[in-house]
Amino acid sequence: MHNPVDPAAPILLFDSGVGGLTVLAELRALLPQAPVIYAADNAGLPYGSKTEAQVAARVAGLLGRMTERLRPRLVCIACNTASTIALGMVRDVLEVPIVGTVPAIKPAAAMTRTGVIGLLGTEATIRQGYVDRLEAEFAQGKRLLRHAAPGLVEAAEALLRGAPVDPAHIAAATDGLRAMPGGGEIDTVVLACTHFPLLQAQLAEAMGPGVRFVHGAAGIARQIARLTQGQPFARAVPDIALFTAAAPEIHAYAPALAQYGLSAIEVF
Ligand code: DGL
Repeated sequence: MHNPVDPAAPILLFDSGVGGLTVLAELRALLPQAPVIYAADNAGLPYGSKTEAQVAARVAGLLGRMTERLRPRLVCIACNTASTIALGMVRDVLEVPIVGTVPAIKPAAAMTRTGVIGLLGTEATIRQGYVDRLEAEFAQGKRLLRHAAPGLVEAAEALLRGAPVDPAHIAAATDGLRAMPGGGEIDTVVLACTHFPLLQAQLAEAMGPGVRFVHGAAGIARQIARLTQGQPFARAVPDIALFTAAAPEIHAYAPALAQYGLSAIEVF
């Protein structure tokens, strides 16, 4: 017998920064009544330049403490870097259902006409065996060109603090893809970091016409909805954003967070 789910139990969305908001936007559309806690590990940002061991230890440790304290009904690791490195391990150690975020290579392979797919992710994500396995399983006969675009993480963070996006970060990402052998034929780009859809308009302009972008946010939201189907939802307190470091700039995110229904900022 399962215990009945507390209607006020939140869904916990976790990322290193604001990238997971791209998943939250899709989740709101599907489950508007769901109580949400959005956790940003700004003390650990960026994950992309860390080692596998650092990311795994950080994510497992934080999620362990967060699930104990916040009692979520489900955890979504809304971060490709953390998911491709630590999803299996976190699932092994936590009792709560975990939804991960992995690069949308399967839909990209179905969409491409030229057979050449670009993939933008963090340095850590693009070297993961998880990505090799997705490529082998779903992109056979296609070319998958992977490019690390850490500057886009910084640019997306700046954008949500209300600061301008440095066009050099956008150009570095798209020029990097185009400069790879076969890069001129890319017609589909996988945004394999949850921060990057926040910059899709700028990336689309820089890639030029005829390039389609694909990411997993909508699919992840559907998966969360499936796993919580039939559960009662009632928001007892306003949804909050939790940051792991009490840095002064966290308050600059408040207007953007409010647009995602996160009306207060707290430090974990
Ligand atoms: N949002 C994270 C992802 O999806 C990465 C950002 C970072 O480097 O911390 O990969």
